[in-house]
Amino acid sequence: MRIYKANILHTPSPNHFEVYQGGYITVDDNGIIQGVYEVLPTEMEDMPVVDFGERLLIPAMNDMHVHAPQYANMGIAMDMELIPWLNTYTFPEEEKFADEQYAKAVYDAFVKELCRQGTMRAAVFATTHIHATQCLAKTFDEMGMGALIGLVGMDRHSPEELVNTASSWASDMQSLMQSMADMAKVKPIVTPRFIPSCTPAILQTMGTIATQFKLPVQSHLSENKQEIIWVQQLEPQSTCYGDAYHRYGLFGQTPTLMAHCCYTDGEELKLMHANDVCVVHCPTSNCNLASGIAPVRKFLQAGVRVVLGSDIAAGHHLSIFRVMQYAVQVSKLQYALSDGKLPFLTLSEVFYMATKAGGSFFGKVGSFEVGYAFDALVIDDMGIHDVGLPTDCQQRLERFIYLGDDRHIVHRFCQGKEISLNSQF
Ligand code: GUN
Ligand code: FE
Repeated sequence: MRIYKANILHTPSPNHFEVYQGGYITVDDNGIIQGVYEVLPTEMEDMPVVDFGERLLIPAMNDMHVHAPQYANMGIAMDMELIPWLNTYTFPEEEKFADEQYAKAVYDAFVKELCRQGTMRAAVFATTHIHATQCLAKTFDEMGMGALIGLVGMDRHSPEELVNTASSWASDMQSLMQSMADMAKVKPIVTPRFIPSCTPAILQTMGTIATQFKLPVQSHLSENKQEIIWVQQLEPQSTCYGDAYHRYGLFGQTPTLMAHCCYTDGEELKLMHANDVCVVHCPTSNCNLASGIAPVRKFLQAGVRVVLGSDIAAGHHLSIFRVMQYAVQVSKLQYALSDGKLPFLTLSEVFYMATKAGGSFFGKVGSFEVGYAFDALVIDDMGIHDVGLPTDCQQRLERFIYLGDDRHIVHRFCQGKEISLNSQF
């Protein structure tokens, strides 16, 4: 058992931060939280305490949509919309992952940077290459971090070097599941790239395997207007883009993450709610690819779950704190554009999306409640602003989210284990 003392903040519910100023948190030997206290219970008074002093202790971040093989393109190639961007910049970079050595170098750097930015768990797209994807899974496992790893399925409208087939994807998926069998926090996720890249044959196979092995699903949905028109042409029998996944068993039949949803409304929104499909909001990506503003308030009002993603390399930054900031800011633009009809997001709402809502895909993760994994960050915000610290802990966290960066994250824990940035693979 370990006892940590700090200024503790978390969001067990979206509407407010729960704050324990100078509070205590107890964690058992399996990394599971046993209690959170304002005052240490008397029976624990003689036990050793790890005292983080005036620092903030918060749940670690969960990035619920990120493309590891696009890491080398982070921060460049911002001059196009989705489809030309994929063909010009993204597919050529992903083709390089046929080379295992290249893959290992990029994936090592990617996982380390994810950790540096305070993200302890992620839902990740790899590529169609099985060996590189196994390497990515191993890298997360060796770091002690959590991940859902997606071997991408794509068999049309893509370069020769990047396509697989229904049968090659299915047999590679078996190998991937075998190689992950002993990994505690790294699991597979069924990952059709998006409808334009996937024939009915591969979609059918992916849906069958998701159901058979009870695996979660991730993909892209209603990101860009041209993409949506293309999907209507490719799947004319579908009532909406979401229905094109649903008819193959890839839309909520098992836990499902759908990135973007900039234009989701009406029938599609109803289908998402009925099937408990979760929106992954990626506001940095939606700005960079000029995709649009996802109506997140409308999703929340409809009872649809929303989590956050960096969507590297359409998104330009791996920090989920940066993504939270954009989520609030684009929601304020939408508030203004809707003449106030769609109230903007609050900081506790976006913090909840990044922690407890995203964490639910990994088990009991993302909150400091009893029974949850101790995934946590210690924030030293002392030097962020030269006027010194606000007295209010919530304002300190707000300023860290808006102005802080990885230099202010001084400890990182994933299920109780401190993750060191210096670990060698
Ligand atoms: N849709 C299909 N593939 C991609 C991708 O790699 N990034 C984004 N943002 N959207 C996609
Ligand atoms: Fe994406």
